[in-house]
Amino acid sequence: MQLIDGKAISAQIKIEIAEEVAKIKASGGKTPHLAAVLVGYDGGSETYVASKVRTCEEVGFKSSLIRFEDNVSEEELLACVEKLNNDTDIDGFIVQLPLPKHISEQKVIEAIDYRKDVDGFHPINVGRMSIGLPCFVSATPAGILELLKRYNIPTQGKHCVVLGRSNIVGKPVANLMMQKGYPGDATVTVCHSRTPNIKEICQSADIIIAALGVPEFLKGDMVKDGVVIIDVGTTRVSSSETKSGFRLKGDVAFEEVAPKASFITPVPGGVGPMTIISLMRNTLLAGKKEIYN
Ligand code: GUN
Repeated sequence: MQLIDGKAISAQIKIEIAEEVAKIKASGGKTPHLAAVLVGYDGGSETYVASKVRTCEEVGFKSSLIRFEDNVSEEELLACVEKLNNDTDIDGFIVQLPLPKHISEQKVIEAIDYRKDVDGFHPINVGRMSIGLPCFVSATPAGILELLKRYNIPTQGKHCVVLGRSNIVGKPVANLMMQKGYPGDATVTVCHSRTPNIKEICQSADIIIAALGVPEFLKGDMVKDGVVIIDVGTTRVSSSETKSGFRLKGDVAFEEVAPKASFITPVPGGVGPMTIISLMRNTLLAGKKEIYN
């Protein structure tokens, strides 16, 4: 069993991005600028956004954090999106999800200029991805593919089972795994809460991408020997052993599954760090106008 070290790979990519940013700056180019919009005080979102802002600084990007109280109106938030769309110094921006119930996430996502949509959530980016055109690929799926690539994990003709059908992970990663070329060319099955025979399907999988958000859902008896496991789960569970009072649990019962796996991502330190670094890569591409002019 080999551990897929997302922390180490993301640290390596961070250096690669920082070097490229330094070159851009040295040749008089524009410093890439990412803005993040954060609404309310959700613990998870606060942590993620703080981490995104910190990573921007580490790679040499400019970053802006725009905060709103959780009673902000949809109109006000849409006005902010419009302002960011028109701000020529901002190369890309994200609106951290989830948003309060009174605001339509879809409306906000669709208001973002797709050329600045470094989260890759806008229907234009999702649509372009699904037909294999250049676009911003959302960060978690992009991070998963990068891990498969950097560990040279074969995917062609493999049975890849995706657990979960979210717009952020399940659907896009399933789509990417079946695209032509490496790391795609897989035969993909998507399982979700209404799939009756998940155990049997998982037992036939060469690669399992678990993104259900159900802690320790995937048990040892559900996988075959040699399986590749990508665990996207990051459920916060309370813990008396950590300073923060919680710890992250993946969707995979690691102790049971790891001995049977050929490769496995840990939680934390697997997919998580790759997500932020993929956002940085998208911001770099946005700054360089490499995908859209
Ligand atoms: N909430 C959970 N993951 C994400 C993400 O990748 N981007 C945004 N904007 N919100 C999220």
